[in-house]
Parts: sequence; C-alpha cells; structure tokens
Amino acid sequence: MGYQGHFRVWRGSDQGGGLEDFTVEVNEGEVVLDVIHRLQATQTPDLAVRWNCKAGKCGSCSAEINGKPRLLCMTRMSVFAEDETVTVTPMRTFPVIRDLVTDVSYNYKKAREIPSFRPPTGVGPGEYRMQQVDVERSQEFRKCIECFLCNNTCHVIRDHEENKESFAGPRFLMRVAELEMHPLDEADRVDQAQATHGLGLCNITKCCTDVCPENIKITDNALIPMKERVADQRYDPLVWLGNKLFRRS
Ligand code: SF4
Ligand code: SF4
Ligand code: FES
Repeated sequence: MGYQGHFRVWRGSDQGGGLEDFTVEVNEGEVVLDVIHRLQATQTPDLAVRWNCKAGKCGSCSAEINGKPRLLCMTRMSVFAEDETVTVTPMRTFPVIRDLVTDVSYNYKKAREIPSFRPPTGVGPGEYRMQQVDVERSQEFRKCIECFLCNNTCHVIRDHEENKESFAGPRFLMRVAELEMHPLDEADRVDQAQATHGLGLCNITKCCTDVCPENIKITDNALIPMKERVADQRYDPLVWLGNKLFRRS
C-alpha cells in the first residue's frame, strides 16, 4: 500500500542553500532513490542527484539520510515510519556542486598520490607466485565500491578542512594497507602511510567501518595492522636497526 511520505531535501549550490519540504508518494518495496526520482518526475525536475546502478555497486549515490551517511539506492523506505520526515542532504565533507551532488575530486587526488604496485625486478606478469592466504586477504579490500562514505564520515577531515592536504582518509589508507600486505610489493608502504598519507591522524574510532556498505572491516583489518607495522618499523629497536642495515633500496 502506498502512502504520502514527508521529505526534507537540501537544495542549493556552492553559493548556499537550505532544506525544502515535500510531500511525495511512497510505494511498497521502494528505496530512498525511488522517491527522489519521483520528486524529480513530479515536482522538482531540476533536482540534482548522482546515481548509476541502483544496485549498491557503482558507489555514486552517496548522501546523508537523517544525518547518517548512506547509499540512497540501498536505503529502504520501510526502515522509516510512515509519518516520519526523511531528511536527505549531500555528503558534508565534500564541496557541494548542486543539491545532492558533491565534488568528490579530493578522493581522486588522494588515489593518485599512492605509488602503484611495485613487483620485484625481473618478475614479469604471469610469473607472480603467492600463497592463497595472501590472495584472500586482499579480496576484502577489493570489494570497495568507492562510494567515499568512509572518507565522508571520518572526523579527521569531516570537521577539519585543514587536514585534507595531509590525510588520505580510510579508503586510501586501506589501499596502502592492501599493497603493503601484498607479498610481492617492494615499496615501503609503512613509512609512506605515516609520513605521506597521514595514518597517525587516525585514532581508530571505527566510524568509517560503521558506514561501509560493503561491510569491509576497514579499521580492524587495514588501519590497525598498518599502525602495528608502523610501531614495529619505527619504534622496535631491533627492527629499526635491521632496517638501517638491510633496507631495500
Ligand atoms: S577509524 Fe580512523 S580513518 Fe576510520 S573514521 Fe576513525 S579516525 Fe577516521
Ligand atoms: S571502503 Fe567501504 S565506505 Fe569506503 S569507499 Fe569503499 S565501499 Fe565505500
Ligand atoms: S546508484 Fe549505484 S550505488 Fe547507488
């Protein structure tokens, strides 16, 4: 059975904006993105929203629903009471372009700052050999759909614009961890994580993990192991001495 739902949607641009109220039809089985599309079709044809797959796989429709970072296409209307006002706002950490669409180029910049996979010299594609357990470990990280909800949530940049320059955010610290855990990668990811990508600013609150739609254990499986490796490499006197004597060039 359909009903008339109450929606409050942020409308505006980089020049400013505010919340607007709408009453719109909601039908059984719908998700928030369906209702946003109905709003576009019936009341606000110029409402800007980014989406592609409507299946939780492209990572485009990230926004905040009642203040929680979520995918619009994976949030069922049935989780809200019929008389509840559902508030939809753009991700707060990134600059607004228009309405629900934000400029996420910060994330692409951070991705480019990570040096690519560096295999040993003399080992060509097709000649890589590694244990199945190492293959499986990276599979969890590779489920990432790049929705950037984790980076949007992380308080290190959400409330501190000034940290964006030095902090890659959980999504890209996880990428550094993935490369560090690759048995054939020869770059010094541990030092880079701390010195270049801002790992030290993370205080393992796990807020990034809580919002990940792929249920990746970002903090437990990527960030904490990287912090342990930093502690080993930088502060364990034996490891420190070994690195000084035998560090790979
Ligand atoms: S665990 Fe670290 S990266 Fe994740 S939200 Fe907290 S401070 Fe940010
Ligand atoms: S780690 Fe999870 S929350 Fe972060 S970008 Fe990937 S899928 Fe999104
Ligand atoms: S539209 Fe692709 S993840 Fe929502």
